[in-house]
Amino acid sequence: MAVELKTLEEFAVLTINRPEALNALNAQTIGEISAAIDEAAQMNVRALIITGAGDKAFCAGADIKEMIGIDLTGKMRKSEIGQAAFAKLDSLRIPSVAVINGYAFGGGLELALASTFRLATPRAAVALPEVKLGLIPGYGGTQRLPRVVGEARALEMIMTGRTVRADEALSMGLVHRIIDDSDRLASAFAFAREFSSYSLVALSYTREAVMRALSRPLQDGLKMEAEISTLAFQSSDAREGIAAFIEKRPAKFTDQ
Ligand code: CAA
Repeated sequence: MAVELKTLEEFAVLTINRPEALNALNAQTIGEISAAIDEAAQMNVRALIITGAGDKAFCAGADIKEMIGIDLTGKMRKSEIGQAAFAKLDSLRIPSVAVINGYAFGGGLELALASTFRLATPRAAVALPEVKLGLIPGYGGTQRLPRVVGEARALEMIMTGRTVRADEALSMGLVHRIIDDSDRLASAFAFAREFSSYSLVALSYTREAVMRALSRPLQDGLKMEAEISTLAFQSSDAREGIAAFIEKRPAKFTDQ
């Protein structure tokens, strides 16, 4: 198996496990990531944590050796399959956290960009270096990177293909935190616990509203926000959260 999925504490942990190829995404690995995301959606967990096996890479991107000899239909299919797998992260009910523990290049950074949050160890190095291969990103990088860091920074990263180290990634908002390398999962769990006790209803509506923000004019976005916030207001968890505040007790959310 190129991907491991297990439950640790209240989280699902997906590990890309091809360290001999720096966890590069061959067809098997993409298929297993896609299946693991489906499986995580059925688990009783509070977040999906994604990381790479070994101490060198999160994921070095699409498997370049698999690109030899594929035709245009095969190339298009590869992009569609990769994009579809990563799009599942966007629509996963639980939030996802990419723990970038080394190189996150090409499709590896695109996987991290499709995750809700990105944490980096001090050794993390991120890039969209496809231009060096005569290519452009194909698993969502040209679309998600500008949404995260803005058009100017995205163009500069993609057109130079340069490597961005952890500190710079933090300063440009590409990663949310730099975490201790010694126990990266414990650090990721601590981060996830900052939101994981809240209602999944409220968390998933929040993500839906924020993700739609950049794809529509402000007035439309405000209308959509009013609708989604009304949906959230109808939930049992909203009734519980409001009652708990008034009764001065901790809320007990049920994700309903
Ligand atoms: N595909 C296939 N194999 C890869 C790989 C990749 N993307 N990245 C690394 N590997 C393999 C290497 O071929 C090598 O295998 P062998 O020992 O069998 O030769 C092994 O992993 C270790 O890699 P290196 O010896 O190169 O390790 P390094 O420490 O010297 O360099 C690196 C690390 C800078 C990340 C370098 O491996 C590298 O540049 N890799 C390619 C990164 C890249 O270009 N990614 C983008 C791919 S295209 C893409 O992702 C398109 C898309 O949008 C989906």
